[in-house]
Amino acid sequence: MALTRAEEVMYSSGAHPRHRHAPEFEEGVAFMFGEYVPVEQAGVPITDTGFMQADGTYDVVSVSKGMFFRLEDHLDRFERGCDLFRMRNPYSRQQMREICENLVRLSGFQDAYVWYGVTRGQMPHTDRNDVNLYECQFYAFVIPYLFIADDQMREKGLALHVSQSYIRIPEHAVDPRAKNFHWMDLKLSLFEARDKGHDWSVLLDVDGNLTECPGANIFFIKDGRICTPANGCLEGITRLATFELAKEVGLELEVGRFHVSALEAADEIFLTSTAGGIIPVGSLGGKPIASNRENAYTRRMHDLYWTKRWAGWHGTPVAYD
Ligand SMILES: Cc1ncc(COP(=O)(O)O)c(C=O)c1O
Repeated sequence: MALTRAEEVMYSSGAHPRHRHAPEFEEGVAFMFGEYVPVEQAGVPITDTGFMQADGTYDVVSVSKGMFFRLEDHLDRFERGCDLFRMRNPYSRQQMREICENLVRLSGFQDAYVWYGVTRGQMPHTDRNDVNLYECQFYAFVIPYLFIADDQMREKGLALHVSQSYIRIPEHAVDPRAKNFHWMDLKLSLFEARDKGHDWSVLLDVDGNLTECPGANIFFIKDGRICTPANGCLEGITRLATFELAKEVGLELEVGRFHVSALEAADEIFLTSTAGGIIPVGSLGGKPIASNRENAYTRRMHDLYWTKRWAGWHGTPVAYD
């Protein structure tokens, strides 16, 4: 049976029609310096250290069928990220909820990608090394929901490449548990994968253990066990959701340290991300997945993820106008 065509449901089936919105918010809405503005007009000051030095942390929460998914989990993770990077969020938790809801309400999108982040702001004129002198800045925006892999790619399964040229930055350099602007290893590994004719990449640590992928966590299934790295990766919210789905389909969960050879011997492989949910992998390094069982568990969890979300699972409804 074909996978749930989430992109088609969102954009062409007419099932989730866009709500009323002002014409200036056609492309999306941003929030900065206390105001809501058209997304294409929003720009970060060039001297903001978020831009200059990747000095920031952020999060992305999605909305589908007019409901945020696991909003409180995203806000928790963001708070942890601010603490890890010693950032002071100028907005309270309740204000954050209101900003996120206002963005989606103003955009009218029923399926949306909501980004919010805090940077350390401008360098102080006096002592640049005093963390307390910085005035952190908050930015946020909403655009239509984004997929790492469209309906066709998810149906076929991504062609995954284990990066040969890059490793994931070690956790004692930039802690991946705080969502951060350090994307160079991820991006270069993606370009490397594309150069070799693959769709997406996965990065290892210095010892050859699995870490994560650009914008996604990695899972594999072997003999009824579902496995994902414990360290060296973001504690993804879709990963968290997958832990629940794995239980529902009868898989035993193992969160640990896995050498890349375990991936090569896997029965099924998939990625998880707010940008597209559960994303099946069809080949690794150009070879079909070992003992491919048609990605049976992955496909079930993929469909469960969407049907449950659209039925309100961990959902917070948006109050549209
Ligand atoms: C580096 C990285 N790993 C994993 C993920 C997946 O996390 P989530 O499921 O919360 O989107 C992301 C999300 O963008 C990411 O940037």
